[in-house]
Amino acid sequence: MKQTPETIVMLNFVCDDIQKIARAVRDKNIYTMVMPYTVSAERVNQEKPVGLIVCKDKTAPARDAELAKFKALNIPLVELEISDEASKSAAVEKAVDFCLNTCKCSGSWTMENFLEEAIKDIREQVGNETVVLGLSGGVDSSVVAALIHKAIGKQLTCVFVNHGLLRKNEAESVQEIFARNFDMNLVYVDASDRFLDKLKGVSDPEQKRKIIGKEFIEVFADAAAQTGAPFLGQGTIYPDILESIPLDGNPNGVIKSHHNVGGLPENLKFKLVEPVDCLFKDEVRKLGRLLGLPSELLDRHPFPGPSLGVRHIGAIERNTLHILREADAIVTEELLKSGWYHKTWQTFAIFVPVKTVGMKNHKRTYDYVIAIRSINSVDAVTAQVVRLPWELLDTMSNRIINEVDGVNRVVYDITQKPPGTIEWE
Ligand code: XMP
Repeated sequence: MKQTPETIVMLNFVCDDIQKIARAVRDKNIYTMVMPYTVSAERVNQEKPVGLIVCKDKTAPARDAELAKFKALNIPLVELEISDEASKSAAVEKAVDFCLNTCKCSGSWTMENFLEEAIKDIREQVGNETVVLGLSGGVDSSVVAALIHKAIGKQLTCVFVNHGLLRKNEAESVQEIFARNFDMNLVYVDASDRFLDKLKGVSDPEQKRKIIGKEFIEVFADAAAQTGAPFLGQGTIYPDILESIPLDGNPNGVIKSHHNVGGLPENLKFKLVEPVDCLFKDEVRKLGRLLGLPSELLDRHPFPGPSLGVRHIGAIERNTLHILREADAIVTEELLKSGWYHKTWQTFAIFVPVKTVGMKNHKRTYDYVIAIRSINSVDAVTAQVVRLPWELLDTMSNRIINEVDGVNRVVYDITQKPPGTIEWE
């Protein structure tokens, strides 16, 4: 979907920063699309672009033959070459200047216009039919839910699956925001027992992830089928699409496969509604704000699909999961209170199934360990440990030990990524 009077096509001649440059140009209200250099000239022409920007890292080969076929289109074209930080910021300025002055872009691609057009497109696509959407409470699915709801109201039904690994009060807060505040059709499926029973005794991290993923698809597919909706709404965003396009010659061409569909069974033949598939993450947040979603939801830390399941090391028991959930709630509460929540990318508690000796009320204790991890990152590929103030860590630690039964020791994870991953499992 493309809601814009003017399109600029950016051709990826192997440039690591192309998404960043595309976003920077969009910040000037100029709509950009990214395509691999292997794309056909006809495909580029279909978008009726008013300008072409060729982006390439200095070390990438010239590829004159490919360049020639785009030059033959007789559309204004500029070539940008990135070698270091200075050339990266110069490239952005040059790109914007090219769009405004050579291509005469009007700079009228705003989120307000996007919203208006997206609503029109959704109504046109769906007609009088119904849409079902899996709502996780994460940014992308939440914004898509609010957007589709704005377009077609009660023709949308959201399905929220509680897999038993959610954070404290998460199920309540998602229902509060969507069903009550937005008056949205919301089917709440409490499948906690089913998940926790399947996970019983399973300690291998990969095995745990597989079980959670498989059960999730089954439970969701079942609930979605019951709505009888022919359309499935999805929170696919632009990087999901870009990162699944193979870029020949670039070993990092395919970063991850686009599996937002979550591997739904083949026999569920949904037609997809993906209204934010041309937006970057920040733009999705901006749209969410425009739709009236609370910051509590839009500015949340990333949270993995398998949820507390990968932060509870080893086999998951209901009582130890409860320990993690309570400790995690304290960490988040103190982080918000101190103003550090929005200064970190992710900060959370981990349950460590190791018992150590301690003292509580003059009595010997033999209880579990909670670890705290706080990192900053730009893209989650690398991460730096945040040096949270000692006083804040002290408060978290004291509260966890005093308020959560079964914990007598709190440790701080000081491992960078790499070599450590952000999540412990
Ligand atoms: P790692 O642990 O690989 O995490 O350093 C990188 C980022 O990805 C998140 N993460 C996941 N997100 N499903 C998700 O949707 C997953 O299975 C998953 N595993 C890790 C993690 O929280 C971090 O932001």
